[in-house]
Amino acid sequence: MKTLIVGNWKMHHNTHQASLLLHHLTHEITSTTNVEVVLCPNFLALQSLSLQVDRKKFRLGAQNCDWHDEGPYTGEVSATMLYGVAEYVIIGHSERRHTFHETDAVIRRKVQAVIRNKMKPILCIGETARERAEGETAHVLHDQIVSGLANVTSDEIKRIVIAYEPVWAIGTGQNAMPDDVKKAIAMIRKQISALYGKEAAEEVRILYGGSVNPDNAADYLAQDGVGGLLVGGASINAHSFSSIVAAGNKSRGNKE
Ligand code: PGA
Repeated sequence: MKTLIVGNWKMHHNTHQASLLLHHLTHEITSTTNVEVVLCPNFLALQSLSLQVDRKKFRLGAQNCDWHDEGPYTGEVSATMLYGVAEYVIIGHSERRHTFHETDAVIRRKVQAVIRNKMKPILCIGETARERAEGETAHVLHDQIVSGLANVTSDEIKRIVIAYEPVWAIGTGQNAMPDDVKKAIAMIRKQISALYGKEAAEEVRILYGGSVNPDNAADYLAQDGVGGLLVGGASINAHSFSSIVAAGNKSRGNKE
């Protein structure tokens, strides 16, 4: 399976800047033979980039969506509206969980909405610094998986991507140790195996995210079970994201 490298542009870049970044990425990323690259700009830029993007090289993803298909929900964008523009939707990012107070129940509904609308959810899970210090990591991951995937069938699990993103590592420059990432991902896979069986657990792609940069990307990708990376800050710089994609292209893909 190809290594998955996802760029989460967060709330950066207006439509013009986003278009310029895509232009630079298209030139700098020369080979994507072994890698699947997903760009997640803001909603507004997503629409215009969908007309510009070379779909042989990149896929597009959204950073969030509402779980209703339509209705009186001022300011929201539904998965139904994203269909045809995006192929992936990031769900339950720690900034959504913590800054926008999204609950597990809301995240579960959003995962369902993305599946219902024939796209792929990238479900983000991860412990906070306090939970980690209190030895709660395994429990937190367990609860977020069980809750986020409730109602997901054994057929649908194949379309889910999970991103392990320790909250304390996001945007802090304090990236997790590759060996700890390997252990956390093994825990996640074990949990998927308990819910859906060994075969499904082997197929599910699990990414690492949190202060990934061109210097540390290869170390994560070399860990067993790491199927790719979710990149924030380093994804809005064409040089750094291209180097991360190049590291992904050289890596061995999703291993077990
Ligand atoms: P970061 O963000 O790479 O800037 O730490 C990762 C993310 O938020 O997905």
